[in-house]
Amino acid sequence: MDKISIAAPSNIALVKYWGMSNSQLTLPCAPSLSMTLKYCVSHCTVEPIPGARADQILWKPASGPLIPAEGDMRRGIENHLARLRRHLNYHVPLRIATSNNFPTGAGIASSASGFAAVALAFAQLCTGKTPAADLSLLARMSGSGSAARSIPGGYVLWPANATDLDSPAQRIATAAHWPLADLIAVVDSTPKPVSSLEGHRRAASSPFFNTRLGLLPDRLLRVRRAIEQRDFNTLAETVEQEAIELHIIAMTSLPPIFYWLPATLQVLAHVRKLRHDGLKVCATMDAGPNVHILCEATESEAVLAELKGSAAVQEWIIDGAGDGPTRLDQHLF
Ligand code: PMV
Repeated sequence: MDKISIAAPSNIALVKYWGMSNSQLTLPCAPSLSMTLKYCVSHCTVEPIPGARADQILWKPASGPLIPAEGDMRRGIENHLARLRRHLNYHVPLRIATSNNFPTGAGIASSASGFAAVALAFAQLCTGKTPAADLSLLARMSGSGSAARSIPGGYVLWPANATDLDSPAQRIATAAHWPLADLIAVVDSTPKPVSSLEGHRRAASSPFFNTRLGLLPDRLLRVRRAIEQRDFNTLAETVEQEAIELHIIAMTSLPPIFYWLPATLQVLAHVRKLRHDGLKVCATMDAGPNVHILCEATESEAVLAELKGSAAVQEWIIDGAGDGPTRLDQHLF
C-alpha cells in the first residue's frame, strides 16, 4: 500500500485547557477555544510493513536525517498507536516518522500538531476517510487534549460537556473570517521543564482553580463574540487576562510550575506598551516561556518592526490563522 503523509497544524489557545476531569478519556474541566496556525506544522508519514515483528518509529530532527524516536516521544507515539489500533481495529505493523518545522516541547503545541498528524495519517491509512468529528476524538486519545483542536481548522471550540468520548472539537469560524497574525517570540527553544500532562494533573491543587472555573464561561463567551464580531480590543484584553491566569494556576499548584522566564516578562511588557501607544496587539502564552503576539494580519509588519530589535527574543516565527490539516505528496522516507 502507498505511503500516506499528513501535515497537521499547531494551534494557539485563546481560552486555555488546563485541568482534566477524566485523565483516562482526556476530558477537560472546562471548554477551550483556539486559533489554528498555518505554518507551524507537524508532518507524519506512515506505511504498513506487513510481516514485520514491530513498528519502526522514526523522528526527523530540525537538521539531519531520520533517526529512531526515543524516550518520551517514542512512548507517546507507541501509546497513541495502541489506542488508535484498538479503536480502528488495524494491527499491521507500521513504519511511521514525524517531524516538526518549529521547536518541539517548548510551548508551541508540538504535541497537538504531532498527535493530530499521527491520528490523521493512521486513520487515512486504515479507513481511507474518517469523519472530522471522529478524527478529533482520535487525536485526543493521545492524551494531548489540544490535539483535538488541531483537526477542524480555523477558530475551534472544544466543549467540555461530555461524559464519555463524544466531545469533538468544532470549527466556529474559518481563518478567512478573521485573518489574525501570530508572531511567536521564541525566548527559549529548549523543552519545557514540566509537561502539560503533569500541569493538568496539578491544576486542581491551586487554591485559585475553582475561582478560575467560575470565571471561564463568561470569558469563553466574550472571546467567542470577539471572534464573531472581529472585535480586537475585547479579544486583546480577555486573551491576555486568560493567559496570565493559566500561569497563576501553574505557579500556585502543588508543587508549583514556573514556565515564565525573565525574557517572557520583557516581551509581555513591550506588547503592553505598544498597545498603550495605540497599536492593536496582545499576547498569550501556552505552557512554556515563549510569547504568541496576536494582531490583525494587516498590522503584523508594523508590530514586528517595533518588536524585532528586542534582545529578549532568540527567534521569531511568523504565523497566523490557518485552515487545518492537509495531505502531502512529499514523504519523510
Ligand atoms: O493538550 P495538552 O495536554 O498539550 O495541554 C495543552 C495546554 C495548553 O497549551 C497550556 C493550553 C491549551 O489549551 O492548549
